[in-house]
Amino acid sequence: MNLSFLRENFKILRAKLPAEVKILFVVKADAYGHGAVPLAKETERLRLKGNPVADFFGVSSVEEGAALRQAGIKTPILILGSLYPFNSFLEAARLNLIPTVSSLEGARQLYATGLKLKKRLAAHLKIDTGMGRVGVSPQNAFEVIDFFSKSRGAVLAGIYTHFSSAESDSGYTQLQIERLNQVLKNKGLKNGKILVHASNSAAVLNHPEANYDMVRVGGALYGLWPGFKPLLSFKARIVFIKKIEKGASVGYGRTFRAPKSLRIATVCAGYADGVFRAQSNRGEVLVEGRRCKIVGTVTMDMLMIDVSEVSEARVGSEVVLIGEQGKERISALDAAHFSNTISYEAVCAISRRVPRVYQR
Ligand SMILES: Cc1ncc(COP(=O)(O)O)c(C=O)c1O
Repeated sequence: MNLSFLRENFKILRAKLPAEVKILFVVKADAYGHGAVPLAKETERLRLKGNPVADFFGVSSVEEGAALRQAGIKTPILILGSLYPFNSFLEAARLNLIPTVSSLEGARQLYATGLKLKKRLAAHLKIDTGMGRVGVSPQNAFEVIDFFSKSRGAVLAGIYTHFSSAESDSGYTQLQIERLNQVLKNKGLKNGKILVHASNSAAVLNHPEANYDMVRVGGALYGLWPGFKPLLSFKARIVFIKKIEKGASVGYGRTFRAPKSLRIATVCAGYADGVFRAQSNRGEVLVEGRRCKIVGTVTMDMLMIDVSEVSEARVGSEVVLIGEQGKERISALDAAHFSNTISYEAVCAISRRVPRVYQR
């Protein structure tokens, strides 16, 4: 994990945004597999023109927020997931995590928790403008906002929505923006007291009109979007090499038969490490700066590659599953394409048993 690229990515992102727009760094799902605690710690250390680089962190659950607080992270943390059961508000309050409320019932329960604690608890309200996941509908948003403005026990600190297709459907994103604007306009909420946010990485790149008061960015800061630098490399080693004859098979189910005699290397990474089985007989890796095909079925702990053209390949040689070697690169997107998925899933899938190594 190249931490020096994190600062560069913040710099690239900052340059795309007006100075007053805040940044929430989405570190849910263990920072998309990169490691939430080390990345949050590094983020708190970083400065751009003397200022902290992130104003908030975003997590998906109380547990993810708790892990950051236990590690000493002080930055405000917004829980992006919809909390249930509602008694999680109590734990969120104890840990100084800001919950998301996505229904009138949620707002009432937050208020009740505040009464119990004799504290005014702040939350952000999620509005479903078209993502179809969680959030109160724009029509029902009004009664929730009214509830907050009348109740002394709960504070509406933010209002937000999430785009479903800011990378691919500008018309639909515009519609989502209009629906959010309608709620803000009707409620006269443009006074800056309530933090309004909508954009993810794709929207920052394609819809600057949706920056509002804050953007919530994950993918771009991990370098998973063009124009940003990938933080992560995924590497393993060759643990065994052999020659096989024409017609010999490799691996479970004999899905690969050698069309000629080949030099086959076994690599100590498998689907339990996060190499998708869908990469069987499709994926590529780098050895000594050259691309080699995955042959046979990816197994739980190992996979086999054809190193016939890489005479320098040895037991112990480094194998790059995602990242650079020499002049070649396999991006998370390449790895994802081999397995019909997206780069986000490819990095989130790298399992806990793969040690994370951080360098500056
Ligand atoms: C609610 C919410 N906001 C922001 C993001 C960040 O999206 P991205 O990583 O594409 O920037 C996510 C990620 O899935 C999300 O669920």
